[in-house]
Amino acid sequence: HGTSRINEAGRLEIGGCDTVELANRFGTPLYIMDEALIRQKSREYIEAFRKTGMRFQVAYASKAFCVMAMCRLAAEEGLSLDVVSDGELLTAMRAGFPPERIHFHGNNKSPDEIAMGIDAGIGCFVADNFVELEMLDAIAAEKGAVVKVLLRITPGIEVHTHEFITTGQEDSKFGFDLGSGAAMKAVEIAAGKANLELLGVHSHIGSQIFEMEGFRAAAEKVAKFASEARDKLNVVFPVINMGGGFGIRYVEGDTPLQVEEYVRVLTDAIKNEFASAQYPMPEVWIEPGRSLVGDAGWTLYTIGTQKEIPGVNKYVAVDGGMSDNIRPALYGAQHEAMLANRANDLPEEKVTIAGKACESGDKLIFDLMLPKAQPGDILAVSCTGAYSFAMSSNYNRIRRPAVVFVADGQADLVVKRESHDHMLANDVLPERFQVKG
Ligand code: LLP
Repeated sequence: HGTSRINEAGRLEIGGCDTVELANRFGTPLYIMDEALIRQKSREYIEAFRKTGMRFQVAYASKAFCVMAMCRLAAEEGLSLDVVSDGELLTAMRAGFPPERIHFHGNNKSPDEIAMGIDAGIGCFVADNFVELEMLDAIAAEKGAVVKVLLRITPGIEVHTHEFITTGQEDSKFGFDLGSGAAMKAVEIAAGKANLELLGVHSHIGSQIFEMEGFRAAAEKVAKFASEARDKLNVVFPVINMGGGFGIRYVEGDTPLQVEEYVRVLTDAIKNEFASAQYPMPEVWIEPGRSLVGDAGWTLYTIGTQKEIPGVNKYVAVDGGMSDNIRPALYGAQHEAMLANRANDLPEEKVTIAGKACESGDKLIFDLMLPKAQPGDILAVSCTGAYSFAMSSNYNRIRRPAVVFVADGQADLVVKRESHDHMLANDVLPERFQVKG
């Protein structure tokens, strides 16, 4: 997929770059991002919205993969940006991302984060709960500012995805729930605050979703809620933000929706609700994360040791694992993989790809058909662009890999491999622990 292909040397090539050369040049594990594919996905969303004739914003949910180069790319493609912490906001600002297109999310923003967002002049805050509404208003008042807010509402929609990544159901840590009346109460409060400008509502029902019905039902509920807010409280929402969640294909059997249809379903639900209304059609915003960067990402590993338990299993170990991709261990996520240096070799045996962390659960792929692997072979795991680097850790004090963007035969480092010094930089040896000379 994307720009990946097998080249004349029988090796995996991405963005016109030979992956074995990339492994030699930058070392492994290595994240590779297919820049052209990210741009293509961005344009698909924007094109789909253009066709609807609605006003819109496509905000990249930066949590999926937040580094300065990605923020630049998002800015170049005309995307907006969803951030959820001071760290993501700072990354965007340092990358020169236009602040007015940044939306600040999160269920527990600190006063410092709110102040930082206001000072930066971001486009809006997505307010999550009553405590935050008070905080936003108070901090805005202190600064003599009026801040734009969306209210995150929980529409009570259940979708079939991993329970850790569903968010739309009533019992969620996020948002004002519709059922109990909290959402309408929030509209009333927000609309009455002198230092808040209520922009509209937001809803996000979960991630890696393949069901159009979930998206449609959520959009209908949110649109209906907007009508009710107008009828009951005379509050008009200029913006409806339908969140992210568009699922991608990791393995055979995954059945992603079509972007164009997805956008049409969301916008139609909103158009229908507002068709007869005497006030302007709201802008529709969405927040794709995974679907912009997920399948653009690959991870290259060097194969090391192997262990066979005859008749039971064969483990092939790589030089990374759960420290650079926690998703298989955390969500039971699945990936495909191939030998990048022998891409034409036929699969011969079924193996389990094990990571190098001291933890039994550190397995990246089960039942993978591979040619007989040798130490030094390069394993390329696909679809690791979203929530892999972003969720990476130093578990076992394994250093985080480098990230490289590839396009048109050019490879550029966008995140350096973590050095030993960097990893140790925040360790402190108190005086009483110091070795006496
Ligand atoms: N908007 C909001 C408010 C969100 O909470 C999220 C994801 C998104 C947008 C983007 O969703 P996406 O388009 O990427 O599905 N770590 C998990 C996924 C967690 C998603 C959290 N929120 C994973 O690796 O599967």
